[in-house]
Amino acid sequence: MPSVQSDFSLRAGVQGDVEAIGAVTRDAFRDHPHSRQTEALIIDALRVAGALSLSLVAERMERIVGHITFSPVTITGGASGWYALGPLAVAPEAQGAGVGTALVWQGLRHLRQQGAAGCVALGEPAYYGRFGFRSTPALRLKGAPAGCFLARPFVRVVPLGSVSYHAAFDLADPADWSFP
Ligand SMILES: CC(C)(COP(=O)(O)OP(=O)(O)OC[C@H]1O[C@@H](n2cnc3c(N)ncnc32)[C@H](O)[C@@H]1OP(=O)(O)O)[C@@H](O)C(=O)NCCC(=O)NCCS
Repeated sequence: MPSVQSDFSLRAGVQGDVEAIGAVTRDAFRDHPHSRQTEALIIDALRVAGALSLSLVAERMERIVGHITFSPVTITGGASGWYALGPLAVAPEAQGAGVGTALVWQGLRHLRQQGAAGCVALGEPAYYGRFGFRSTPALRLKGAPAGCFLARPFVRVVPLGSVSYHAAFDLADPADWSFP
């Protein structure tokens, strides 16, 4: 088992966290090979549009060291209750200590408790697979690299359709979205 420090806590992001969330997101993605550095802008655009369905921060010694974003998606055919995970960011100095894992599990738990039908993510299957995300032929995202568009249903039947993220994500092309 990897050693995991649990000297951090999670809570919902609030208005006073906006700058710190932007900073932690920019720091996390600064050297990311696929990043176009639009992640913090996407979060801001979601917030302004009222589409930040869930924003969770991880705090260590009263400093925000991680953040996870969930926003609504639409699916052709009209299935409702689906959300997108991401951007997800952990400050470089806080990585590898379980913060990202805790944010993902807590976010999924919250969505499920709120009656969500499922969650999608665009990213590395080796990372998101540990949370139950799988590539499925039922759900497609235009432009996504093969095998990297993943779904984590909370319902038994996964809807069939093409998924659209919120317009805030138009700041980045799916082919360029950052992977963990
Ligand atoms: C990806 C990220 C959120 C992980 O957060 P973290 O707090 O470091 O993650 P945790 O400590 O909870 O978990 C680390 C585990 O994830 C694994 N992991 C991290 N990146 C991975 C990747 N690209 N592919 C597969 N596994 C990966 C680690 O190997 C480690 O595995 P272990 O538990 O078996 O040792 C963080 O590294 C980060 O912010 N990266 C830059 C931004 C990014 O890529 N965001 C996600 C895309 S939206």
